Amino acid sequence: MLPERLEKAIIDQIKAEEESSRLYLSMASWCEVNGFAGAAQFLFEHATEERMHALKLLSYVNDRGGHANLLALEEPRAEFDSLHQVFEQVLEHEILVTSLINMLVEIAMEEKDFTTLNFLQWFVTEQIEEESLARSIIDKFNLAAGEKGGLFHIDKELAAMAAAEAASPE
Ligand code: FEO
Repeated sequence: MLPERLEKAIIDQIKAEEESSRLYLSMASWCEVNGFAGAAQFLFEHATEERMHALKLLSYVNDRGGHANLLALEEPRAEFDSLHQVFEQVLEHEILVTSLINMLVEIAMEEKDFTTLNFLQWFVTEQIEEESLARSIIDKFNLAAGEKGGLFHIDKELAAMAAAEAASPE
């Protein structure tokens, strides 16, 4: 049986992952209407990935004899100043999610729930990858700064990354 405090904390994390999904969906929508089809594709894909994270947590709570009841979600941000800013926000958001996952690990340790600790390892590794991915995209913006057609090339690269992500969803 999942300790009550841990169950509550994981339910909060389900909300955070659902909000991540909706934030990326909102960013994808902004990209689509602003002519960045590749970035939109990448972010639609990423939104689906976040939904999978929420489902993974939901199943875990229920499998451990709890009940993953869903919480109300915040309205995601809809407007951005630039494509660069969108991805700065992705990184900022992933850093926040990493801190939330670390807090969950801390609670699992305090509760001496080794099954949950083991389960959370997947998320710890995933966060390293997600932050690294966001940083690598921001590096592209920094490298392309002032370059003619830079945004066009970044958008194309994001489309290719989206296709790769779709081929190996996590
Ligand atoms: Fe599920 Fe991107 O954190």
